[in-house]
Amino acid sequence: VAAATDNIDRLVRWADDFPVDGVRFADLTPVFADSDGLSSVVAALATAGSGADLVAGIDARGFLLGAGVALTLGTGVLAVRKAGKLPPPVVSQSYQLEYGSAELQIPEAVDVSGRKVLVIDDVLATGGTVAATVELLRTRGADIVGAAVALEISALGGRGKCVGYPLVCLRQV
Ligand code: PRP
Repeated sequence: VAAATDNIDRLVRWADDFPVDGVRFADLTPVFADSDGLSSVVAALATAGSGADLVAGIDARGFLLGAGVALTLGTGVLAVRKAGKLPPPVVSQSYQLEYGSAELQIPEAVDVSGRKVLVIDDVLATGGTVAATVELLRTRGADIVGAAVALEISALGGRGKCVGYPLVCLRQV
């Protein structure tokens, strides 16, 4: 985890007033574009997945990390998509973002009932995105073994929305 934290600190790009005024955006793109950055972050996130038999990666940067974590753990990866990307029938969950609202979806055809799922994303801010993903998966009968993100924006209190499972954050700011 220490190597991942160092790489995040070294390579994260902060942007003020993006995508809207008042939001400070953490861009982890340079972390993932770095070979040590990607491998250390994926390895550290995978430590949260003991017992998982499925990884759920959240649209869009959670896909990158989720696939890496799934390969590390030897599981499949379920892409949790933003609305409008998947053909029906889908299962949906709406949620509030730090800026606006949105909806997450998975295909009805992917049966997550009884699956032990690790939820992966790049950033935890208000926690709405991870919480909506957990709600969506639990509604379909999944057992959430944990959630793991690279970066937690502590001041936004997202941790408080992650209830009933361990939350791993590689870097807190
Ligand atoms: C960012 C980030 C998380 C989410 C965290 O995604 O990648 O998914 O916001 O915010 P929350 O904890 O307040 O819900 P973004 O909306 O920028 O989508 P993208 O990954 O598709 O660019």
